[in-house]
Amino acid sequence: HPSRSPATHTGKGGETHQTAGGETPVMTTQQGLAISDDQNTLRVGPGGPALLEDFHFREKIFHFDHERIPERVVHARGYGAHGYFELTDSLADVCRADIFGRVGERTPAFVRFSTVAGNKGSADMVRDVRGFAVKLYTQQGNWDLVGNNIPVFFIQDAIKFPDFVHAAKQAPDRDFPQAQTAHDNFWDFVSLSPEATHMVCWAMSDRAIPRSFRFMEGFGVHTFRLINAEGRSTYVKFHWKPRLGLQSVVWNEALKINGADPDFHRRDLWQAITSGNFPEWDLGVQLFDDEFADGFAFDILDPTKLIPEELVPVRRVGRLVLDRMPDNFFAETEQVAFCTQNIIPGIDFTNDPLLQGRNFSYLDTQTERLGGPNFTHIPINAPKCPFHNFQQDGHMAMHNPRGRANYEPNSWSQPAGGPRESTDGYRSFAQEQSGPKLRQRSESFADHYSQARQFFISQTPVEQAHMRDAFVFELSKVETPAIRARMVSHLLHVDPGLAEGVARGLGLSPLPQPAAAARPVLTGLGP
Ligand code: HEM
Repeated sequence: HPSRSPATHTGKGGETHQTAGGETPVMTTQQGLAISDDQNTLRVGPGGPALLEDFHFREKIFHFDHERIPERVVHARGYGAHGYFELTDSLADVCRADIFGRVGERTPAFVRFSTVAGNKGSADMVRDVRGFAVKLYTQQGNWDLVGNNIPVFFIQDAIKFPDFVHAAKQAPDRDFPQAQTAHDNFWDFVSLSPEATHMVCWAMSDRAIPRSFRFMEGFGVHTFRLINAEGRSTYVKFHWKPRLGLQSVVWNEALKINGADPDFHRRDLWQAITSGNFPEWDLGVQLFDDEFADGFAFDILDPTKLIPEELVPVRRVGRLVLDRMPDNFFAETEQVAFCTQNIIPGIDFTNDPLLQGRNFSYLDTQTERLGGPNFTHIPINAPKCPFHNFQQDGHMAMHNPRGRANYEPNSWSQPAGGPRESTDGYRSFAQEQSGPKLRQRSESFADHYSQARQFFISQTPVEQAHMRDAFVFELSKVETPAIRARMVSHLLHVDPGLAEGVARGLGLSPLPQPAAAARPVLTGLGP
């Protein structure tokens, strides 16, 4: 009868040897050689020197020495889960993508939630934006919706991203703070960048201390395009709406939770999914056309703005269910590579300058982080539909072309001739473009305060008080008085009561002058 548990015996030093047999597999080297003793190095006599010849020892230690890879440059701390997307309402009239065509069809998904600023080993319950990255393994290729739990962003142009991230992460001289907004560099940068005001208000709201990943919304942030079978374009904003609703903790709870259990969000997701409480989100879309875009008070390409749901209601078209934890954190959650440029027929980009910069950044950084150009061959990143091309070689190549042809056009018949272009393949939306080549922010991006004000006044009095207290707490850690005053000068445009409350909490008197505003602040959602 095969034994279910390994046989054991004790070695001369009292060490435990567990031996293979029955269902217990044999431990081998990377070359497949069975190992007889994994407890002792090869030596000359019991007290003698270790031998260089000990290839098993050297292979084991060599591999251990190389276990670490660079952590993500942002969103380093994250936690992922597998699941599926199921379409509940067809979008076939506006989108030719398969995933939006057949109601009831399920598409495998992998989702990674993350904090942004903290390092890989930082705590979960910090005040920060949360990443909400979704990889959908569609039959037409992988589509990644790399979003956050907040619908807008700090900056309007990707060229500012390195500065923003440098300022938000630990300062280069002291290497702290690790995961808090509470420091001079962060507030210096955002108070010198009025475009950040709207997002800073969200970051000081309860949204930035979510109760768990299961109670968070997700947003694609940018305006994308849906393209239908006739080639017509419709603008779209993507939303994930948690079926459990939205919940946050209060700041005092966050501080205690971080101290008691820095893995609080990880543990919550693990326990929910492994006990069968599968979290679900509805996929929502806001659809609008050029006419709406032209009449809207803000530029739909400005990622510091949202489209109010009062003006364009969110239509729910499907559900995302997370029902399986990864077998191995590193292989899946750490090695997963989301990229905004991974799109499928029926979905296209817009000229949002943040989105266009992201399309360069992700592939570039992942080539560094995951050790070369072949990280798409790692199972978590590979498509689940057939894929063939003539890309070859590089470190760790797993899918080199088969046969003679590694170029095209070629005149070899099949199968030697290899893959060919498809008449049904991806085509970019043929947007008309003209204009001078220059470095200049669009005039239509200049209103930095109106939506920040809308956000503040949409909060309940309790939530408004939380925001004020968050500003006071975070800014009270800022050592430079001019930076505190500069931030309050922006808040004067958001809400005078908020600005006064923050100034009072900081002992700042008299109030600074309001910051120079390029545009008058609107009192409504727009015309
Ligand atoms: C990582 C979202 C802007 C560069 C991430 C991740 C998310 C995210 C969710 C983590 C992905 C994961 O879980 O593996 C966003 C959103 C943005 C934004 C919603 C604005 C709307 C930018 C910009 C840049 C950028 C402007 C650069 C120009 C990166 C990089 C990573 C990253 C380099 C690390 C990727 C990796 O190592 O795999 N971002 N991001 N992001 N983001 Fe962004």
